[in-house]
Amino acid sequence: MTAAVTIRGVHKRYGQVRALRGVDLDIARGEFFGLLGPNGAGKSTLINILAGLARLDSGQVAVLGFDVIRDYRQARRALGIVPQELVYDPFFSVREVLNLQAGYFGLGRESRGWVEELMQALGLADKANANLRGLSGGMKRRVLVAQALVHRPPVVVLDEPTAGVDVELRQQLWRFIRRLHGDGHTIVLTTHYLEEAESLCERIAILDQGQIIALDSKAGLLARGMDRQALTVHTVDPLDHLPPALEPLLKHRRGNELVFQLHRQTDSIAGVLDALRDAGVTIADLHTEKPDLEDVFLELTRKEQRA
Ligand SMILES: Nc1ncnc2c1ncn2[C@@H]1O[C@H](COP(=O)(O)OP(=O)(O)OP(=O)(O)O)[C@@H](O)[C@H]1O
Ligand SMILES: [Mg+2]
Repeated sequence: MTAAVTIRGVHKRYGQVRALRGVDLDIARGEFFGLLGPNGAGKSTLINILAGLARLDSGQVAVLGFDVIRDYRQARRALGIVPQELVYDPFFSVREVLNLQAGYFGLGRESRGWVEELMQALGLADKANANLRGLSGGMKRRVLVAQALVHRPPVVVLDEPTAGVDVELRQQLWRFIRRLHGDGHTIVLTTHYLEEAESLCERIAILDQGQIIALDSKAGLLARGMDRQALTVHTVDPLDHLPPALEPLLKHRRGNELVFQLHRQTDSIAGVLDALRDAGVTIADLHTEKPDLEDVFLELTRKEQRA
């Protein structure tokens, strides 16, 4: 079966800026895929190329086997893109915008029911007749999501859909996106909320300075941090001084709270506790934490910066 998205050797420059430097990526049909990376990594550039909004300098990109340049219309039809920037026509109402979008894809009255359903699912129903101009940022974002889905695209790409969106809408949006995924849609998501990516995405690529620096299942990425754990200790009294042996392990210290970063091979929890006890410290409470996606992400992208 053809992949949902195929990206081969893609380069893109903006003047002196090398936004993409040889990106290769396959996203399978039905995947929930996360595209992560720091600001300026090239995520939106890649998405714009996919959408036909930016032109690649070299390489090839296809959606469901349709080349985004040669077979532009079929590729575009297969895609629903929620852009990062809020672009909208202020003079139309929500319902008008969605029906116009349906018309753009050659859909007629038969899409009306789906437009109503989309507005309902995204909490837009009571704003259906409101002009876009008067909507709040979060409401406009909902319209962009609905607009991307009007033609029922099999591949849905969301570029930071939850930026500036309140908690309730985020949850509503994720319920809806999960439903689409459950119905067999391929989902590609970029977000800076790594806990969202951790709870939703099955596979993740980390893009940094125009290159993919990690591509793995979520479990695989998390496992990269598994040789480390954080140990938090609360002491009964504030410490005057830390036993010198523990200094290299200390991550931070705030009043009675000490947080240590331990490497599983070399440092043991018992070792830390013994050293504290030998120094006459009484421990009130302690807990350990496994690294999350954010820890792994920071480590990988920092490593890249040092290189
Ligand atoms: N239209 C453009 N003209 C000039 N430079 C651009 C343009 N679009 C992007 N760039 C540059 O290309 C690089 C990649 O930008 P891009 O928007 O793809 O990053 P991003 O990963 O989406 O970042 P963010 O997380 O901030 O959205 C940046 O250095 C950016 O300044
Ligand atoms: Mg972006």
